[in-house]
Amino acid sequence: MTRVPQHLALIMDGNGRWATGKGRPRWMGHARGAHTAREVVAYCAQRGVEQLTLYAFSSDNWKRPADEVGFLFDLFASHLERQLDKLLKHGIRLSVIGRRDRLPRALCDAIEATEARTAEGRRMHLRVAVDYSSRAAIQEAFTMADGGGDALPNASILPPVDLVLRTGGERRLSDFLLWESAYAELAFLDVNFPDLSTADLDAVFADYAKRERRYGAVPAPANVSAPTTPAISAPR
Ligand code: IPE
Ligand code: IPE
Ligand code: MG
Repeated sequence: MTRVPQHLALIMDGNGRWATGKGRPRWMGHARGAHTAREVVAYCAQRGVEQLTLYAFSSDNWKRPADEVGFLFDLFASHLERQLDKLLKHGIRLSVIGRRDRLPRALCDAIEATEARTAEGRRMHLRVAVDYSSRAAIQEAFTMADGGGDALPNASILPPVDLVLRTGGERRLSDFLLWESAYAELAFLDVNFPDLSTADLDAVFADYAKRERRYGAVPAPANVSAPTTPAISAPR
């Protein structure tokens, strides 16, 4: 088995293009994407990913038509309710990150209930980012720290991300986990999210396992001793 990222951050992009490419309305792409998300969660837990953070709705996604936004929130609420048993069965803890104050009451209730029920899950921590902005989260963390606490103490900053994966062909982060991804590996797939398969994930994990993460240090020591005299003499 290849080494998998401990913390995988997934930007689930390309739902709309998946649908319009088939002559269908965008909401069908989101519905299909939700199905894919369920499979991704199950597969990541099975592969031993400890933390999975899914980008479901950005604070900039409020710019979309109200009916698309409403559909996304309804879809998320109904999935939370329907997936609860599976989350419990597989030991998955679910948390939602992002602003809550602009979400529909019914969705907040579903989120709170699911968070409370799954709080003891130890196999994988699944976080779903809803009305999330990384710049806002960083700002919030600094505001809290200014109030006298330790630097960046609060829940708006997550543990470091090992791998950011974005589907849908774009090569950008779109305000997702900017602080946490300081040393993350990056992977971009041209496949639209609803078409993402476990084979695609296998390929991404295999590529991740080959990368050497140095965090600014030199590579692991090779069996070569340092030269006794400098190759280049210092200027006089
Ligand atoms: C990602 O798919 C889902 C959300 C942002 C909610 P998009 O809806 O952005 O799909 P494209 O990028 O338009 O194809
Ligand atoms: C990022 O996708 C947000 C989510 C996947 C939830 P977008 O489709 O909103 O990002 P941009 O507009 O292409 O940068
Ligand atoms: Mg998009």
